Amino acid sequence: MNISGAKNAAVAILPATILAGGVCVLENVPQINDVTIDLQILRHMGADVRLLDKSTIRIDTKHIKNTAIPYELARHIRASYYFLGVLLSKFNHAKVSMPGGCDLGDRPIDQHIKCFKSLGAEYSIEHGMVEITADKLIGTQIYFDKVTVGATINALLAAVKADGLTILENAAKEPHIVDLANFLNSMGADIMGAGTDVIKIRGAKTFRGTDYTIIPDQIEAGTYMVAAAATKGDVTIKNVIPKHLEPITSKLRKVGAKVIEDDDSVRVIGAQEYERTNIKTMPHPGFPTDMQPQFAALLTLARGTSILTEGIFDNRFRYVDELRRMGADISVDGKVAVIEGVERLTGAPVKAADLRAGAALIIAGLSAQGVTNIEEIQHIERGYEEMEVKLRAIGADIVKRTVAEVGAIAKVV
Ligand code: UD1
Repeated sequence: MNISGAKNAAVAILPATILAGGVCVLENVPQINDVTIDLQILRHMGADVRLLDKSTIRIDTKHIKNTAIPYELARHIRASYYFLGVLLSKFNHAKVSMPGGCDLGDRPIDQHIKCFKSLGAEYSIEHGMVEITADKLIGTQIYFDKVTVGATINALLAAVKADGLTILENAAKEPHIVDLANFLNSMGADIMGAGTDVIKIRGAKTFRGTDYTIIPDQIEAGTYMVAAAATKGDVTIKNVIPKHLEPITSKLRKVGAKVIEDDDSVRVIGAQEYERTNIKTMPHPGFPTDMQPQFAALLTLARGTSILTEGIFDNRFRYVDELRRMGADISVDGKVAVIEGVERLTGAPVKAADLRAGAALIIAGLSAQGVTNIEEIQHIERGYEEMEVKLRAIGADIVKRTVAEVGAIAKVV
């Protein structure tokens, strides 16, 4: 099975095309709803967007003038706030609705605002819209009080054209931050140190269009790796960067699965039985929070007691009640879930509360006895390209139905 381009890189790189003020051709763009919304926003602002093939998009941002993004467009995805950084950089003004995205508890944007202000911008929030303006952006030193992917990306976007040097300290190190920095550099930016916790950005004045290939999605790959293990399968997952998958590979090996790495693929061979383990989610290169629900689904069937600690978000166990409906034995206390392994899960009607929660339910459904109907799969479609098609191609019994057809949407046997 082939992995698509990374959602979290795409949703940063698409807004960044505005800086080019010309033509960018992006390859390996995932066909997911978050990308569709970003493209709608770009079109709304005046960009000429053309799909050259399934995963290649040509975007001409020469005629963009509009610096406001309405609620109806921005509310669907959290990453719409990247337009704030880009528009501030390009036009010294941005007005974007407060971001939406998965409900994972409190998701403040104070660190984003702190960056914009440090660079010399003024901001206000009125009627649900964030507005930022600057006469001039001036390079500065910014220390993040918390490691945050979103604010690191917004700081990169906002600082690339600022006068002089900007230094970001305690920056996030995720692969998609490196990908964005590479993309910006290929357009004319001068960024060093992305992938470490100190990033130096020397403001550049001239940006140009570029051709760029987005990195593969580590979370999509990880999800299929766990699905292969949970179903005791033998699956080769292609178009991946194995280094990005290390925390997942290492945990899969720990519980008993076999993972064989090649240059750009990983093969996962499931075990008959799995051992318990403990996981704490952390910023990269720690175990990714976006893989926590999927791994929980696997651990429901492992021997013994596993402890999952969520180290990033306040509320990332909204899938637990649904897994319980399928027979899982999980208790949650704050940011800690205790999973007692059970002999088997049984299919049940369940609801996807958010994107990765939905992925966890698909994994649970594939490994359960009987039929699982998963509702509200629009969350899953925000971030997984043709998940049911890819899973069917490796032997899963899964179909997607409309609500009108069955009253539920994904049926996993
Ligand atoms: C991004 C990813 C998401 C992933 C998360 C953590 C995208 C589009 N989304 O989300 O899939 O789960 O990283 O790897 O890339 N925080 C603050 N103040 C801020 C910003 C964040 O306190 O201004 C807190 C958050 O509430 C959270 C933590 O910092 O507790 C990390 O959040 P952050 O890394 O920013 O996550 P997102 O960028 O929202």
